[in-house]
Amino acid sequence: MSPRPPARPKPRATGPARPRPEGPARARPRTGGPERPPAPPEPPRIPLFLASKNPGKLRELAQMLADLPYAVEGADVLPSVPAPTEDGATFEANARKKAIHYSRHVDTLVIADDSGLEIDALDGAPGVRSARLAGPTASDTDRVRLIVRRLERVPWEKRTARFRCVLAVALNEHVLETFEGTVEGLISFEPRGAEGFGYDPIFYYPAAEMTFAEMTAVEKNRVSHRGQALERALGWLREYAVSHPPRAAR
Ligand code: IMP
Repeated sequence: MSPRPPARPKPRATGPARPRPEGPARARPRTGGPERPPAPPEPPRIPLFLASKNPGKLRELAQMLADLPYAVEGADVLPSVPAPTEDGATFEANARKKAIHYSRHVDTLVIADDSGLEIDALDGAPGVRSARLAGPTASDTDRVRLIVRRLERVPWEKRTARFRCVLAVALNEHVLETFEGTVEGLISFEPRGAEGFGYDPIFYYPAAEMTFAEMTAVEKNRVSHRGQALERALGWLREYAVSHPPRAAR
C-alpha cells in the first residue's frame, strides 16, 4: 500500500490553502537509457499549523522539528483570515487566544506563541505590550531608545529583566497544552550588537557577558525563552506523534 501524501491544514471556508502551480506538469525528457527507479515515497507527516506569518519563526520551528514526522505550515496559507487582536493580560492568554482563533479555520494541530520583555524597574513593562510599545508605527530602534531613556537613572543592579515566551497547542478549538520559557538578564545602558531583533541589543545575558544581539542565533536559541519553550513543546510533540501516528503509517 502506498502512503498517502501529507495532508495540508485545510481552511474550512476559503477553499484550498495554496493554489496549485500554473501550467502543465513538466514532462521528463526521454533519454532512451535505463529507467530510473521511482523515488521512495515521502514518509507520512502530521500537519502542524503555526499561528504566525513570521517566516523566521516558521523556519525556526521547521528546523527544530526536522527529525519528527510533522509538516509545518504558517498562517500565510490563510491570507483571508485576519490575525486576532493580542489584548490578553498575560502571554499565556494571548497564546491561547491565537491558537484557538486559528484552530477555527484549520482542522489540524495549531501551535501559537506570545512573548515579550518584562523589566522590573518598569513594574514588568512593556510585557504583553512589547510589540506595541511607543505606538503602532514605531520601529524596534525606537522602542529600544525609549527603554534606554526610561532607565537612564536606574543603577546596574536594579536593571533586572526577563524575556518570557508561552506556546499553546490547540486542536478543534481546544488548547491541549501550553509550554513556557523564561530567560533572565539585565537591560544594558546602551544597545550593543547587530544580530537578532526587537530588544536583543539591550538584553544583556550575564552568563555569556554579551547582549542577545551580540550572540549568534544558535547561541541565543540554546538559552532563549523561545528556545526553552520550543524544547518543551518538542518533547510533547514527539510523544504526540507516537500516540497519534500519521494516518498512512497506521
Ligand atoms: P510576539 O511574540 O511576536 O508578539 O513578539 C512580541 C515582542 O516582544 C516582539 O515584537 C519583540 O519586540 C519582543 N520580543 C519577543 N521575543 C524577543 C526576542 O527574542 N528578542 C527581542 N525581542 C523579543
